[in-house]
Amino acid sequence: MSKKPFPKDFLFGAATSSFQIEGATDVDGRSPSIWDQFCQEEGTIADGSDGRRACEHYFRFRDDVALMKNLGLEAYRFSIAWPRVLPEGFGKVHEKGMAFYEQLVDELLEKNIEPWVTLYHWDLPACLGHQGGWLHRDTTRHFADYAQKMVERLGDRVKHWITHNEPWCVAMLGYRRGEHAPGMKDPRSGWIAAHHVLLSHGMAMQAIRSVRSDIKAGITLNLTPAYPASDSAVDREATRAFDGSFNRWYLDQVLKGCLPIDMVPEVEAECGALDFMRNGDLDLMKQDMDFLGINYYSRAIIRGEENAPGQMPRRLTQDPTDLTDMDWEVSPEGLRDLLVRLQMEYQPRSLYITENGAAYDDAPDAQGRIRDERRVRYLQKHARAMQEALDQGVNLKGYFLWSLFDNFEWAYGYQKRFGMVWVNYETQERLPKDSALWYRDLIQTRVIP
Ligand code: FCB
Repeated sequence: MSKKPFPKDFLFGAATSSFQIEGATDVDGRSPSIWDQFCQEEGTIADGSDGRRACEHYFRFRDDVALMKNLGLEAYRFSIAWPRVLPEGFGKVHEKGMAFYEQLVDELLEKNIEPWVTLYHWDLPACLGHQGGWLHRDTTRHFADYAQKMVERLGDRVKHWITHNEPWCVAMLGYRRGEHAPGMKDPRSGWIAAHHVLLSHGMAMQAIRSVRSDIKAGITLNLTPAYPASDSAVDREATRAFDGSFNRWYLDQVLKGCLPIDMVPEVEAECGALDFMRNGDLDLMKQDMDFLGINYYSRAIIRGEENAPGQMPRRLTQDPTDLTDMDWEVSPEGLRDLLVRLQMEYQPRSLYITENGAAYDDAPDAQGRIRDERRVRYLQKHARAMQEALDQGVNLKGYFLWSLFDNFEWAYGYQKRFGMVWVNYETQERLPKDSALWYRDLIQTRVIP
C-alpha cells in the first residue's frame, strides 16, 4: 500500500444515523416517525424487524463515545431524530429529547471528537407524514424552523451541519418506488418530494446562517458515477439519462441553481408538468455551502435498451466479480472519477465523503476475533482512490466511514452488517472488527496500512 501520508488536517471519522442505532423509540416523549410506522406494515422490512431496540445507543451513548475515542476517531457524524426534539413536528423544543443530544455533544467534545450533525436522515415525524410529508410544501417551512431551533441550541458547540442526507433516497425510494418510508409508489410524487427536500435544504441553510455566522453547513448527496456498458449510442444515451436523474438533478439545483436542461422533457414525460416548482425556488436552493458531502458506495454500468425510448434507465449490469453483501460492485475508480468530476464541474468550496463502506457478514471466530478482510480491502482501495483524487487537486477534506456500528439497514433490517464494530443484537455487546483496528492505524499514522 501507498506510504504517502494523508494531510495532517484531513479529518477521519465515522457516521451513523438516529433511527438506525438509537432504539428507545417510545422513550422520553419521542413521537413516532414515518419509519416506525413503515416497519409495522406487512412485508416492508426483509427480516420483519424495526428500530425499537437497534443498538440501544440512546442508553449506551457514553460507552459508545468511549469506544470511538479508543478507535481514535477525530469526528463523529450522527443525526438528530426530529420526533425526539419536536414531537409535534414544530412548536416548542421538547427538553427531554433535546437533553439526549446536548449530552451526546458534550460527551464527544470532552473526548475531543468533533460532532457533525445531520438534521434529516429520514425519520420524519409521523404527524407531518400524515399531512403529506415531503409532498406538502409546508414541510419545507417546518424543516427550516427545526434547523433553526437545533442550531440555536447546539450551534455554540456543533460547528458542522448537514441539512439532508441523500435527497434521492428520500424522494425516489420513499415516494416513487415504495421501498422506504412512507412507502408510496408514484413517479410524480417522487419528483415532488425531491423538489421539496431540495427547497427545504435552501431554506434551512438560510435559517442556520441567520442564527450564527461561525457554522459550516452543507448537504449530503448520494452520487453514483455512471459508465456506459459499451460505446454504442444507445448505452451512452442511457448513461446520460441515468446521470441526469440520479446525480445532476440534485447537484445542478443546489450548486448551480438550475435544472439540468436535458432532463426536463424526460422528467415531465414521467411526472407531468413541473407546476410544483415556483418562481424563486431555484434561487433559494442554491445557497453558498461550505462543503458538499458525498455518500459513495459503488458505480453504475448502464446498458440502454433499443426499444425503450423515454423510459428512465435503470442500473442494468455490473461487474459481478467483486460484490459486497448488498450486491454492490466494489469500485474505487468510481470514487476517484466522481471526486475529480465534482471538483471540475461544480467546484464546491470543499468536499467531504460523509459515507463510504461495505456490508459483509463476518462474525466472531472461535477466538472472538472478527477477521473482516474484505472490508479492510474495500477501505484500503477507497483510501487509495482518495489519495489519487487529492493528487489531482481535489479539495477533499475528510472521510466518514459508514458505519461505526452494525445497525438497522432500513428495508434489509439487521441482515446487512456495515459496521467496523460488530454488534450482538441480543446482548448489545460491541466488538471492534479487524477493520476498526486497521482504521485506527490509518488515523494515527495518516498512512494507509
Ligand atoms: C445510505 C444511507 C445510510 C446507510 C447506507 C448503507 O444510503 O444514508 O443510512 O443505509 O446507505
